[in-house]
Amino acid sequence: MNRTRIIAGGRRIGTLLAAAAMVAPAMAIAQAAPAPAEQSARPWADQRLSPDERAQMLLAAMTFAEKLALLHGPMAMPFGPYTMPDGAVGSAGYIAGNDRLGIPALQETDASLGITNPMLVRGADDMATPLPSGLMLAATFDPQIAFAGGQMIGTEARAKGLNVLLAGGMNLARDPRNGRNFEYLGEDPLLAGMLGGESVRGIQSTGMVSTIKHFSLNGQEHKRMTVDSVIDEANHRESDLLAFQIGIERGQPGSIMCAYNMINGVYGCQNDHLLNTVLKGDWRYPGWVMSDWGAVEALEAATGGLDQQSGEQLDQQVWFDEPLKAAVAAGTIPAARVDDMARRILRAMFANGLFDNPPVAGAPIDFAAHAQVAQRVAEAGIVLLRNEGGVLPLARTAGRIAVIGGHADAGVPSGGGSSQVTAPWRPDPATPVRTVPFGGEGMMAAWYNTVFHPSAPLAAIRERAGAANVTFNNGLYPQAAAGDAAAADLAIVFAYQPSAEGDDVADMSLPFGQDALIQAVVAAQPNTIVVLETGNPVRMPWADDVPAVLQAWYGGARGGEAIARILFGEVNPSGHLPVSWPVDESQLPRPAIPGWGEPEDTVVRVDYDIEGSDVGYRWFAREGLQPRYPFGHGLSYARFEYDGLELRGGETITASMEVTNTSGRAGADVVQFYLVGKPGTPRMQRLIGFQKVELAPGETRRVEISADPRLLAEWRSAGDRGWLIEGGTYQVAAGADAATLPQRQDVALGRRMMRP
Ligand code: BGC
Repeated sequence: MNRTRIIAGGRRIGTLLAAAAMVAPAMAIAQAAPAPAEQSARPWADQRLSPDERAQMLLAAMTFAEKLALLHGPMAMPFGPYTMPDGAVGSAGYIAGNDRLGIPALQETDASLGITNPMLVRGADDMATPLPSGLMLAATFDPQIAFAGGQMIGTEARAKGLNVLLAGGMNLARDPRNGRNFEYLGEDPLLAGMLGGESVRGIQSTGMVSTIKHFSLNGQEHKRMTVDSVIDEANHRESDLLAFQIGIERGQPGSIMCAYNMINGVYGCQNDHLLNTVLKGDWRYPGWVMSDWGAVEALEAATGGLDQQSGEQLDQQVWFDEPLKAAVAAGTIPAARVDDMARRILRAMFANGLFDNPPVAGAPIDFAAHAQVAQRVAEAGIVLLRNEGGVLPLARTAGRIAVIGGHADAGVPSGGGSSQVTAPWRPDPATPVRTVPFGGEGMMAAWYNTVFHPSAPLAAIRERAGAANVTFNNGLYPQAAAGDAAAADLAIVFAYQPSAEGDDVADMSLPFGQDALIQAVVAAQPNTIVVLETGNPVRMPWADDVPAVLQAWYGGARGGEAIARILFGEVNPSGHLPVSWPVDESQLPRPAIPGWGEPEDTVVRVDYDIEGSDVGYRWFAREGLQPRYPFGHGLSYARFEYDGLELRGGETITASMEVTNTSGRAGADVVQFYLVGKPGTPRMQRLIGFQKVELAPGETRRVEISADPRLLAEWRSAGDRGWLIEGGTYQVAAGADAATLPQRQDVALGRRMMRP
């Protein structure tokens, strides 16, 4: 077949739509439509039946063409020569419904960080509440907050008439330059799996389907369409796949989105091993696999485990229309496979209420209440990285405060790409939203914007500063900013890092000369606080000179208020790093980004076996490296001490420890338990449990966790496939972060083999 392929800025566009190009199949595949009496009966409408029974009944009533129609759909926005599909609410994707059988359309929207409105397809007035970045959510270490965020997003989706949320991004952060880490949940499988699962559970509690994505090892954005993520089975099972497995178990997502990249040489959306053997086989996943937009390379995807082709204009062919029909007619793909695809979709729709409790477009949204949900994430996820000499919290008596840089007069930054909330809610819709494009070429360039969500830290600081005189300098000229700082009693420098889907950041430095700005300001004013608003950890050449540093990520709808409340001590910081914070790139498994500088379309092999399953803090432990700040690090205005670690063995390890707030302020700590030794593996580290606890001044609590036994085990691919816990002595250490573990104990475990 004569096809042209255009690669533009990382997204692949097919120029011919298969429907027009395909030759009609020799054999017509038709099934008689059910008689009218059966139609009106619609026995699958009976809510007392299980989702499986209902899906099976409905499937039996469908013609082949009706089944096929469920398996593919276009983008739900005008795109190039394509107009908006009829019936689409407008967002990322659309799968037409079926009036004859009463099947609702799938109205799909991106939603990891709020309901999106790409290219303002639903109009600039269609606002949504932006949540803080995924890394900020992970920094809360609080599953309840994740659930609440998901529930908030689902509620807004209902009110806009949407019913499938492309949320649940949880690829592990294997590289601090990944342009999309801000959408994900950090480097640890337990943390990412738990929080991702809870957020999906929250979304689906509102009668939506949510995805979990991007399955799997979508570990870098650079050359994401041609990158081959190479990894050994055991390494994969113990890291990224374990995160997905935990997330799927907790969240029960209706759908899984496969990834753009290859995994061990096979594209993610046709990867038989991943989709059929692991996901649908070992994990018995009952939902459907949808493709990422433009990620379907060939019809093999149908046998490789893909159930639905999304954003079909972006592929070279609408594979799941005429080509699939022709393959079934020719007998190369069994008709039963098409049944399986359609059944999986219908089952998830029944299980999540899409038939029984459809969303109502136009329902009112309580934005003020939703902003509180976003604020709660931000207040629990800001990480106090450093606080020397008790600079923070600020007294309200400082005579003059110089606020500098980072567009702090406009709002808090957000990451670019499909997850970005471009029409953020603001109390007064007339408030302008500052958007700063990165510039650049290619198709993804339209997505490369920093949208400042209009919660301005400057205004929030002024509100709390009492009689103090608060000045603002945009930070463009370091010496001018230093002048303002010198004339004040205290300086607060806001520094930001843009990042976006579609590419990685080139290196870990702060762009726009912000390091020089910070250095000039702190040289002029020793009382300087730096507030970092970044998608990822950055190099901090000035770290030892600046007395206080707050990591404020991308802060969402009320990020400015959250920052100010923490600065002034209205809220005691309790966020902890969900990623290790390297000093610089030399400490990474891959100091250079694979494929950087190579021509477009080059197949880039990324060797993830360098670190294997030792992602992040495990890599630092294995290599004996000291990061700038370890995983789990986060200071408080309170102080916590630990005592009395106790372990019990048996089926798994149960660990408990006392934590005491020894300060005069209430605060929350994240108590962390790590496996640090097991038979034959002297230098190792794995987070096996954590708990966030609120403690009054002087209060002591005993915190207990029970480890998921897979975290104690190793994956065995040969023979009896599964998780093996070797019998012997295991050591657990507990404390404040991956490198501060004052309590340590041994425990014995018997040998145990567990199914995949
Ligand atoms: C992204 C997905 C997203 C999809 C639809 C893709 O570019 O990788 O995360 O859900 O677009 O917008």
